[in-house]
Amino acid sequence: MKSVKILLAAVLAISALHVAAESLEDRIKPAGSVCMAGDDCASGSMQVAASDGPRSGKDVYTSKCATCHATGAAGAPKLGDAAAWSPRIGKGIEVLYTSSIKGFNGMPAKGLCFDCSDDELKASVDYMVENSK
Ligand code: HEC
Repeated sequence: MKSVKILLAAVLAISALHVAAESLEDRIKPAGSVCMAGDDCASGSMQVAASDGPRSGKDVYTSKCATCHATGAAGAPKLGDAAAWSPRIGKGIEVLYTSSIKGFNGMPAKGLCFDCSDDELKASVDYMVENSK
């Protein structure tokens, strides 16, 4: 009877170790983001933890899109510039969503936010459009 208990304890201990090792693996996994040198995520300063759920359009805009869309770099339509945005808005929001996901001329695919979901990209497009009318 005693040996059964010992065996049971050993099995429990092994499975506990296994669970601990698995959760450690989860914790040390990279967040699934692609970082480029000079990118916000590379410095970690503007990084938003993936576990916080979807980022708001404003968060994505501020940390990613603003690089070009706040300054007009590379001919990007600036946030708040109604004249620059109105012909784009006229194309329809779905077209703008597609441009943000797939890219459009100087506009890089995903606006360089490689860890953004389509929904996060759409939210950031909504944010820019709403603030550029
Ligand atoms: C590296 C610079 C850069 C970054 C970063 C960037 N954009 Fe752009 N974006 C551009 C440029 C340049 C254009 C204008 C392209 C054109 O009209 O030829 C543009 C245009 C757009 C348009 C209009 C597309 C159309 O069909 O008229 C949308 C929408 C857009 N960007 C969304 C985003 C979003 C959302 C982000 C952030 C997730 C983002 N951009 C980040 C450069 C950038």
